[in-house]
This record gives sequence, structure tokens and C-alpha cells, in this order.
Amino acid sequence: MVKIAIVGTGYVGLVTGACFAEVGHTVVCVDNDPKKVAKLKAGGIPIYEPGLAEIVKRNVAAGRLRFTGDTADGVRNAEVIFIAVPTPPQPDGSVDLSFVEKVAREIAGAMTEYRIVVDKSTVPVKTGEKVAETIRRYNKHKVECDVVSNPEFLREGCAVEDLMKPDRIVIGVTRPRPVAKMKEIYAPFHAPVIVTDINSAELIKHACNSFLALKISYANALALLCEQSGANIDDVVQGMGLDKRIGRAFLNAGLGYGGSCFPKDLSAFIHIASQLGYDFRLLKEVERINADQKAHFLKKIRDTLWIVKDKTIAVLGLAFKPNTDDMRSAPSVEIIRPLLQEGARIRAYDPKAMAKARELLPDIRYCQNAYAAATGAEALVICTEWDEFRNLDLARLHKVMAHPIVIDGRNVFDPKKMAEAGFVYKSIGRPE
Ligand code: UDX
Repeated sequence: MVKIAIVGTGYVGLVTGACFAEVGHTVVCVDNDPKKVAKLKAGGIPIYEPGLAEIVKRNVAAGRLRFTGDTADGVRNAEVIFIAVPTPPQPDGSVDLSFVEKVAREIAGAMTEYRIVVDKSTVPVKTGEKVAETIRRYNKHKVECDVVSNPEFLREGCAVEDLMKPDRIVIGVTRPRPVAKMKEIYAPFHAPVIVTDINSAELIKHACNSFLALKISYANALALLCEQSGANIDDVVQGMGLDKRIGRAFLNAGLGYGGSCFPKDLSAFIHIASQLGYDFRLLKEVERINADQKAHFLKKIRDTLWIVKDKTIAVLGLAFKPNTDDMRSAPSVEIIRPLLQEGARIRAYDPKAMAKARELLPDIRYCQNAYAAATGAEALVICTEWDEFRNLDLARLHKVMAHPIVIDGRNVFDPKKMAEAGFVYKSIGRPE
């Protein structure tokens, strides 16, 4: 079993550390936020992720997982050190790599014998070269070191499952020496491993996320065509998805993609491509379609209500997608803010994200459940496809609303059932 340190106990770092411990490795998670470390040490989990709390608890109790604020502690007690710090976007779309650089310096300063330093944060191609250079420069004890790129592909909301059952493991190296240790770490996960050079590994990550975003924008463009022509997007994507070369996943039309990864990774990829001399117009169009999707949905709301001012609108779903409390780049914010500006009153409900939403959207009324949000509303808008919305009691919903109008940004309901239940029902890319 391998002794591992993870520097950065955010989403990626914490879930990765917990899952490594779960398969038997000894893991120390490092974070420079003393409050977060204290919370974790006291048994608290800073994020909501199905299954995570149990795994953390079990492995802390078993002595395989612990938390510290001291990078040197991590470096001393691990053969392999993962960098999992944020790489936030900058105003021009490029990536802020200052956290990666700072951690690389800290690790280099603390190394007293051979270590493998693995970059897990999503970074632009050629970052590994810079990390290696930084470590060489700040390597106080002049010890040997290998830098590896090992991108993560986990989705929020099913991060534990994605980590425990990965489709593949990508390992980017400059020489064979660290490969055996990396394979040992991942052996318990039984996934295909692909070993590449570092630049290719880094590129794979951006290429995947951009391709998935492209699929979503493609579906959204088709949904618009469906609305214009009277075709049905559900049937269109089903017909496409059965082609093995295409696949059904990531073809759900709706409010478009949000979250902490896709918007940021796309603009980063476009930026890097441009620095490398390539104008990635295809991806610029993917971004444009994604932005238009919100404008199109707002128009649908305005067309239905005519005047938005002084109307009470219920919003179900605030998180950027189901099974998470994450509000980063949530499409709901881009829908709610313009409605508020136009004078609407918003009553909202989300199963997990209301605490985080309050910081971004202080001027809306937060309700206990979907029916409470819908009470007295002149329209109900769906921004996130939580499962519990699919099972709402339509008769009860109809009864509490002032007017039975549902405008569904995630195609949660069956249009026929909604019509039968007496609703005016509008969704994305499906005939009314
Ligand atoms: C994504 C990648 O899937 C993951 O591999 C990477 O490591 C991080 O970025 P995540 O941001 O957690 O993960 O969410 P994901 O489930 O991929 O969804 C991204 C966004 O696309 C969400 O806003 C979701 O609502 C939207 N989406 C997804 C669609 O609009 N339609 C779809 O068909 C699929």
C-alpha cells in the first residue's frame, strides 16, 4: 500500500484522498485553511457529496486518513504527493496557476528524499514542465523528483462513484521511473491505465471537458430547431444516442451547462489554444450557444407571463445540477437575477443548495419544500432536475399555485401528463 499526501483538501482533494484511503492506502490531506482542517479533524465535511461522509469517517477511524495544515508533514510522510489546489479563471479566460506554483515551491522546500509529485488539478497543457522547473529551482536538499500529470474526471454529485469506478486512469510522465508506483496506487480500482507524456495527459483533460460541453451545446442547438419545426428533442436525441459512435450521454437539452468545471475549462482551453497559435472557434461557438440558452429561456418566461413586474414566480432547483449543493456558475442565478431586476418576486426551493444560494441571491424567499415555493405563484420555473421534482403530486401543485403555469428548463415532466393535470406547460425543444 502506498503512502500518499494530497495538498489541497477541496472537492477533488478530499474525495480523492478519501477514496485512496478506502482502498487501503495511507493518506494525509493537507490544507492551508486552518478552519477547514479543524472542521475535518472534528469529523465535519465541508461539502455535500453522496457517500463521502461515511468513507471519511470509516477511514479516519481506521487510521488510514488524517488531516493537517502543514505541507511539510505531508511531504515527510508520503512517497507520492498529489497537488489538488484550485486553478481559478482570470478575467481574460486564462487560468490562475499561482496556487499550483506556491504548492510546488512548498513541496520542493520540504523534500529530503526522492518523491513523486503528481498534478491532479486541471491545468493548461505545458504546466507540468513549469511545475518540474519550479521544483528543481526550490529543491533545497537537491533530491530526485518525478513530476506526473494525473487528471481527475470526477463529476460532482457522483464523485465517490466516479473515483471508485473510473473509466480510465491517465498517467503522464517524462520517464518510466514513477509509472510502477502510480499503477500500484490505482491497481485496486481495476481501470484501464493509459501512460502518455505529460503534455498529452494535460491535453486529454481539457479535450474531454470541451467535447462534453460541445455535446450539450449541440443538443441545445437541436432543441431550438425542434421548437421552430415542431419536432421533439427527446426523440431526436434518442435516435442519435442509439448510434454507438455517438452515445446518449450528455445530449440532454436544457438551460445549458454550469458548474465549476465546464465554463472555466472551456475558456481556459480556448485561451491556451490561442496562445499556441490556434483560434478554437468551434469552442467559442459552444460557449455562445450555452449563453444563448439562458436568454432563450428568459424569453420563454416573458412570452408566457407577458409582464414580469410584480409577479410571484416559484423557482425549483438552484444548484448547477442535481445531487450537489454547488452554486458555482449555476444557470439558476442567470435566470433569477434578471427576473428580480424586472421586478418579479421569487420563491425558491432546492433540496441541498439553499444555504449556498443565500450568499448569491439574498433577495429571494427560500421555502421549505416545492409546494411551499409554489404557493400563490403565477408561474413555476424549473432550473435543476432533482429527482424529487419528478415525483411531485401534480394535483397538489396545481391547487396551491395562483395560476397553473410551469416553465421547465430541464424537461423534468412528461408534457402529456402535465396537460392532463391542467397545467400550461412549456419545456425545452418539445412541442407544447
Ligand atoms: C464535469 C465533468 O463531467 C468531469 O469529468 C470533470 O472532471 C469536471 O467537470 P461536473 O462539472 O461535476 O463534471 O458536472 P457534469 O455532470 O459533467 O455536468 C456539467 C453541466 O452540464 C451541468 O450544469 C449539467 O446540468 C450540464 N449538462 C450535463 C447538461 O446540460 N446536459 C447534459 O446532457 C449533461
